[in-house]
Amino acid sequence: MSITNQVFPVVWYEDHVRLIDQNHLPTSFEVVEISRSDDMAIAIKTMIVRGAPAIGVAAAYGMYLGAREIQTSDRDQFLVQLEVVAKKLRATRPTAVNLFWAIERMLKVARQTVGPVDYLKQTLLETAQTINADDIETCQAIGDHGLSVMPQNPERLRLLTHCNAGALATAGYGTALGVVRSAWREGRLERLYADETRPRLQGARLTAWECVQEGIPVTLISDNMSAHCMKQGMIDAVVVGADRIAANGDAANKIGTYALAIIAKAHNVPFYVAAPLSTIDFELKDGDLIPIEERDAIELYQIGNTRICPVGAEFYNPAFDVTPAALITGIITEHGVVKPEDLIKFREKQVC
Ligand code: MRU
Repeated sequence: MSITNQVFPVVWYEDHVRLIDQNHLPTSFEVVEISRSDDMAIAIKTMIVRGAPAIGVAAAYGMYLGAREIQTSDRDQFLVQLEVVAKKLRATRPTAVNLFWAIERMLKVARQTVGPVDYLKQTLLETAQTINADDIETCQAIGDHGLSVMPQNPERLRLLTHCNAGALATAGYGTALGVVRSAWREGRLERLYADETRPRLQGARLTAWECVQEGIPVTLISDNMSAHCMKQGMIDAVVVGADRIAANGDAANKIGTYALAIIAKAHNVPFYVAAPLSTIDFELKDGDLIPIEERDAIELYQIGNTRICPVGAEFYNPAFDVTPAALITGIITEHGVVKPEDLIKFREKQVC
């Protein structure tokens, strides 16, 4: 069971970035070419590119594109103007910490690199390309570590995921879908159940699309079917991604993840969060401090061009929720799997 038709949502090509336009999938496969930092900010905000690690990679390239546009050859002036680029990119989406992580890494490289401005710019491009390439390797490691902790019975697993934490949400391979891909590669996957993920339908549009591309057996369910499926004994484990994990292991992910974790607990189904270390925000003590993005109400009241709710109703559209650490069986990282309560000790070990 080989991995074919690999998907790479963010690619540096000659002198610009190519993004798969995720708003058009699965109806059409369109590629958007981005040559300016402002256009990258729009692409992140409008979710042409989305998913925490992919947003981080896109923002890193956005920093380089912004750096390239800066005219001065004075180093101090350059750094001041690069801060302005960073500010615009930071303002795109608040929850996924990978965005801020990538921007900070690019700024740090700019500050620490010695040499003329043109050399700084070249170093920034190389750093963005490294962030891009590293993310693919990171996801493959997450996939393999995740597979090693999946239940041994049955031999062929029935996994459930929420939203899209796949190749499209990363530089390639995926975090939660990385685990699914590794299971498929090793002949250990019976089937993936994909929550449709209202309101933007990332599960139906993107996760199902990725699986179909690679021949991975996928069954779409609506978000309110998971309890029924678990009660019927149809699910062996749940694996989801994350947008930001606090130091105590509370994990923000797509809205609906928290409900899924409660349902998994009620049915004794293991619930794993798969994410790179760059998704862990050790500055935040717990999940209550994670900023939650609220998106436009149109995502709720309209499907395609059809309004599904009467004028006069009011709306609340948080894009993410926070799953308490107590509901999480383990956090699958590129360095291994850790219990949420052991995250801080785990980081200390990585640093040493
Ligand atoms: O709003 P989105 O589509 O950017 O949300 C994406 C998710 O919630 C993913 O599950 C998360 O970013 C992990 S991606 C590997």
